[in-house]
Amino acid sequence: MPRNLIIDCDTGLDDAVALLLALRSSEFNVLGITCVNGNVNLNRVVINTLKVVDHSQNIVPVYAGASSCLIPEYSEDASQVHGSDGLGGLPFPDSKRAVEGEHAVEFIVRTIMSASEPIDWVTLGPLTNAALAIRREPRICEKVRRLTMMAGGVHSGNTRYMSEYNVFADPEAARIVFDSPMDQTMVPLDPLFNGGHLNKMNINQIRDAGNEKPWCDMAAQIFDRTVRLVHELGRKQVIEEGAVSPPDLLAMAIAIDPEIGMSEDYQVFVETRGEYTRGMTVVDRRKYNRVKLQPDRKDVKVVLAVDQKKYSDLVLKTWLA
Ligand code: BDR
Ligand code: CA
Repeated sequence: MPRNLIIDCDTGLDDAVALLLALRSSEFNVLGITCVNGNVNLNRVVINTLKVVDHSQNIVPVYAGASSCLIPEYSEDASQVHGSDGLGGLPFPDSKRAVEGEHAVEFIVRTIMSASEPIDWVTLGPLTNAALAIRREPRICEKVRRLTMMAGGVHSGNTRYMSEYNVFADPEAARIVFDSPMDQTMVPLDPLFNGGHLNKMNINQIRDAGNEKPWCDMAAQIFDRTVRLVHELGRKQVIEEGAVSPPDLLAMAIAIDPEIGMSEDYQVFVETRGEYTRGMTVVDRRKYNRVKLQPDRKDVKVVLAVDQKKYSDLVLKTWLA
């Protein structure tokens, strides 16, 4: 029986492939995709999300949510990575489908509260919509089976020294979510460099299936663009040449099958004030004298490593089926 899923995203390059994975997976029944301001502005996110849904050949409603973070003066997009259109300038045709009229936060609360079984929830962008939904109806926390988030970093950040983009882009929202009693899995940056990549061979297999499967064609174009971006942005090659490690794709794969990853349970706090550390996820990994400052606070499952073979098998099996 597929599990019901809501996805919240800020569709840039890696969100797109994560959506394609969920939309082609027989493990999930995607009830709706909610959009949030992030990598690019909300309007672009909606346009991109509709294009991705078209390529998946799965019909799923798309909702628009927050058009800014909770404290807008700190807002920062990630268009320097994803391009001003959010999809690296790749010429995917516009969708003929329209966004739903209902606000994303209303959709999230209504769907979770009226569900007869607990729902899975995956967030791939800043946590603004998630925080607003929790504030609006805190009882959703007990009705979510598990929230899997691409969020944070244990050892380092990407946008700032210690801050990963999705948390940095709205730390106040992230704090509301991490402070909530919901069952949470955090997929931080760390496993991307510890097994969480697709290699050249994996990408070739996906590209070869592109003629018949539009989702493979879109994914392969995005992976090729991602490989080129590493060079264009002058980034240090930290995984093998020609490989990709899209953060949101890994988070979605973990949501489908947590067994592909290795995780540990920790209390996680979000720094909202530090001069150098605003948006940092502070993971309490103290090994001794470990007195919990908030003993009743729930642990978060923090993914630290991934089995590369299991991960790529899952992606290939899902897309080539
Ligand atoms: C995260 O930030 C965004 O730019 C990506 O889409 C991903 O969700 C990685 O830090
Ligand atoms: Ca994202």
